[in-house]
Amino acid sequence: MEYALLNGEIIDRSEAKVDVEDRGYQFGDGVYEVIRVYNGKMFTLTEHLKRFANSAESIGISIPFSIVELTEMLEELLLKNNLQTGNIYMQVTRGTAPRNHLFPTGNVPPTIVAYTIKGVRPLENLKSGVKAILTEDIRWLRCDIKSLNLLGNLLAKQKASEQGCFEAIQHRGQDVTEGSSSNIFIVKNGTVITHESNHLILKGITKDVIVDLCKKNNIPVLERTFSLAELGEADEVFLSSTTAEVMPVIEIDGNKIKSGNPGPLTRNLQEFFKKEIEKQCGVLVNNGI
Ligand code: PDD
Repeated sequence: MEYALLNGEIIDRSEAKVDVEDRGYQFGDGVYEVIRVYNGKMFTLTEHLKRFANSAESIGISIPFSIVELTEMLEELLLKNNLQTGNIYMQVTRGTAPRNHLFPTGNVPPTIVAYTIKGVRPLENLKSGVKAILTEDIRWLRCDIKSLNLLGNLLAKQKASEQGCFEAIQHRGQDVTEGSSSNIFIVKNGTVITHESNHLILKGITKDVIVDLCKKNNIPVLERTFSLAELGEADEVFLSSTTAEVMPVIEIDGNKIKSGNPGPLTRNLQEFFKKEIEKQCGVLVNNGI
């Protein structure tokens, strides 16, 4: 049997149901996290839980559990579902109340849900790299909140997929922001550049790990806005996310990045990243398949 966490209780996954008037369902009034699991252990868990709490706080939802309690519940969920390699999806909404744009008054408890998804590391793509398209970033101006409102992201990702591509790289005018579900990096003359973490992008946990790895390994790294022109002239491009790790981008809108192969610095960062996973979660037997 598969289990899910619903409002602090671990129950049969098929019994975990929310009301039709749950505000997450009706308004996207909530926030979420995706946490990677390797060898049955959660990678960068504290960072994810802190971001979860920050996202919730920034829209005025108070999570009724401490970080320690959430950690214990997620660990129990992993054990019960015997998840070795995959993801935890967790979300909190403002709860169930008669439909009204205004926040409900009174004591409406948030709805908090978590469940597990089996999934191996994307080894083929990590090795060969992926293609991307460019698309205008039509999202709101609080992309730092990991909100359930993902329509802009979904439209971008769908457009990419319909053109045989893995990701849509979004830009506001001439400025590159981020992917539909990833952060974007370029490499130019040995320097790694990625958008600063402000209201226009999600402060990716993977991005932060990569920036730290650059610093620890004496790779020059800058967090600043870069332009479409810089993207077009980059020596290497890669994207990052919890599920995609350090993913080489080899072609954008049909134009190859340099030779059209993953670049050497990207390869090095992939190795450093794998070592970081192994430091936290143990040796990846069979590469984490
Ligand atoms: N998405 N930017 C956006 C818009 C994202 O949705 C994500 C992650 C990231 C990367 O963040 P992180 O490194 O913390 O995963 C950046 C998750 C994986 C998702 O929605 O499935």
